[in-house]
Amino acid sequence: MAGGDYMYIPAWPSLNPAFFVHPEHRQSAPFPLNSPDSRYFYVARNGIYNLFRRLGFANGEVVLAPDYHHGNEIYAIRAAGASIVYYTIQHNLDLDLDAVIRLCRTHHPRALYITHFIGWPQPMHEIRKICNENGLMLIEDCALSFLSSHGGAPLGSLGDYSVFCLYKTLPVPNGGVLVSNKRGGGGSVGTELTSCSPISVAGRSVELMLQWLRMRHEWCGRALFATKRWIGSSLSAASVERVPVGNTGFDAGAANLAMSGVSQVLLRRFDYEWIRNVRRRNFGFLQEALSGKGTLLPWKLTDDVCPLFFPLLVKDKRQAARALWSKGIETVEFWNNGDPEARRDGFPAEFLRRHVLEVPIHQDLTLDHLDHVAKQMPAVCI
Ligand SMILES: Cc1ncc(COP(=O)(O)O)c(C=O)c1O
Repeated sequence: MAGGDYMYIPAWPSLNPAFFVHPEHRQSAPFPLNSPDSRYFYVARNGIYNLFRRLGFANGEVVLAPDYHHGNEIYAIRAAGASIVYYTIQHNLDLDLDAVIRLCRTHHPRALYITHFIGWPQPMHEIRKICNENGLMLIEDCALSFLSSHGGAPLGSLGDYSVFCLYKTLPVPNGGVLVSNKRGGGGSVGTELTSCSPISVAGRSVELMLQWLRMRHEWCGRALFATKRWIGSSLSAASVERVPVGNTGFDAGAANLAMSGVSQVLLRRFDYEWIRNVRRRNFGFLQEALSGKGTLLPWKLTDDVCPLFFPLLVKDKRQAARALWSKGIETVEFWNNGDPEARRDGFPAEFLRRHVLEVPIHQDLTLDHLDHVAKQMPAVCI
């Protein structure tokens, strides 16, 4: 670990190579890994696309979706043939229930697509009521909410279907899960899935392991990273195709790619309870360090929640991301763009797109790391 005021802190959890030789974990797997009716895709957007295709949205039926979104989930829904009508996400990241009710009257949607942001549940009781009253299918997007629950039930188990993005919470090279909670089962999606190229999986796995090394030996890790980047550029120059994760865009041609065997092996080796506990501890530490200043809201870290990251409100995202990176802290600009059709001046989503920065709190981070992060935050937050 580098000393002084620099510490390399990657945005996502890194991969300790020892996991490949760890014994499998005896703990029972959490939802959705223990669900009998789930399908494992290379990325979550593949699952979303296949779900909407299978449900027969190809004739333009309406899905209500949040105006604050990543973009990939929206492009996948649209590519499957559905029409999207946006409802408002409020400053506190809760969906606007009144807006949803109004849109039910005017657009007669067939499905409500909700996102549980950063590990915090949406108001499920009210949402279920709206769905029941309007005959809506409910799809939960838990890409940001693996290991969280609501009223004792795991998030993603309350809707008719749900989708998870594993590589955001766990150090796996790829992995998205589509779950069907429909009684009677029937399989989430019948589609045959195909394997991804070994080079795509190896490339990302090596990158995650180099991040692990760089957290411990900055210069050595950095040099190896540069070498890996050079190899990557050479492969690209030689037209060796790799399928990315964590990128923006949707490729229907890659929609039937399955999660890799490497991810499957790793999923059996993690201690999920420990991961959840460390994430909660780290979030609490930063929240206290900032004492309510610069954080999105006075969010309570209730027992239900496994936070994905710390949502820091900053004046200028790009500048703040650069300032933090100069101290070794990698952040993610939480959804600068999204679907151009969803952009509406003056709406909370625009504020969120301009000001929310994802600060890491993942399970690799010790209290020393968090202390370093906390020291840099006041200089950049609102
Ligand atoms: C809310 C949300 N849903 C779905 C997705 C799609 O995830 P994936 O990258 O695994 O396709 C993402 C990220 O891209 C996301 O942020």
